[in-house]
Amino acid sequence: MKVVKTVAELKDFVRAEKNAGHQIGLVPTMGFLHEGHLALAEKARKDNDAVIMSIFVNPLQFGPNEDFERYPRDVERDTKLAAAAGVDCLFVPEVEEMYPAPSVVTMTVAARTDKMCGVKRPGHFDGVVTVVTKLFHLAQPDKAYFGLKDAQQFAVIDGLVNSLNFPVEIIGVETIREEDGLAKSSRNVYLTEEERIQAPYLQKALQLGVQSAVQGEKSTEKVIERTISYLQEHAGAAVDYVELLSYPELEPLEQVQGKMVLAAAVNYSKARLIDNIIFNVNEGR
Ligand code: PAF
Repeated sequence: MKVVKTVAELKDFVRAEKNAGHQIGLVPTMGFLHEGHLALAEKARKDNDAVIMSIFVNPLQFGPNEDFERYPRDVERDTKLAAAAGVDCLFVPEVEEMYPAPSVVTMTVAARTDKMCGVKRPGHFDGVVTVVTKLFHLAQPDKAYFGLKDAQQFAVIDGLVNSLNFPVEIIGVETIREEDGLAKSSRNVYLTEEERIQAPYLQKALQLGVQSAVQGEKSTEKVIERTISYLQEHAGAAVDYVELLSYPELEPLEQVQGKMVLAAAVNYSKARLIDNIIFNVNEGR
């Protein structure tokens, strides 16, 4: 596996792969890799001739009071894991390499951001689409892989690609979970021992909500209420939001119908956890 730190080196790698007629898969990450990221890399490995993984903690997508400085990092360990997952080129740029000068053009996401995490994280998705656009231009992937745990991020990137005609297919990969159902996340390390025991109730609450919808509850409000009260009873965390929206448009629905996402965010003492279930009342999950 090649480890490259500069845009010039990455471009050389991409040029050689393109000249060889190879199909490229891109796995953008912020590092501190877990099985969720490795599942993306493994899928990319199966689908493509060459796999590029990026590790870049993107300052643009962190708010002033968020965890940019303390976001967990371990590039040495990540390098070994990426190589074992079959990555061909690991791109690990410094901030100055990605953003060498103030940008002449900035990006603002116009839809799908005024709900869920977008409400509490203004500017977050502008930062995400900016870095993803740069990575798409640099790596020129045929396919790019994102985890569906960040359902809103996937919906926003879907909007980016479709609105601006990016020549890339985006692939959403199912959330990888711990045995007790907690979604794998780099931020799980912030949980205390007691919180770690309570955290799986986030997924259980969502399952309960989805179950009631699938079993015939038509009122989105009631599905949301049920999910919230189960969370409040069991999860031991402050509920930030529970929303049931159309997917991937993320529009509010009066009635349970079609393809939807039931999503929640909760705050523990040092960790903000998100999770969701994307489902279709007509077809089940
Ligand atoms: O999902 C993430 O890890 C990040 O938001 C991404 C897509 C790598 C952009 O920085």
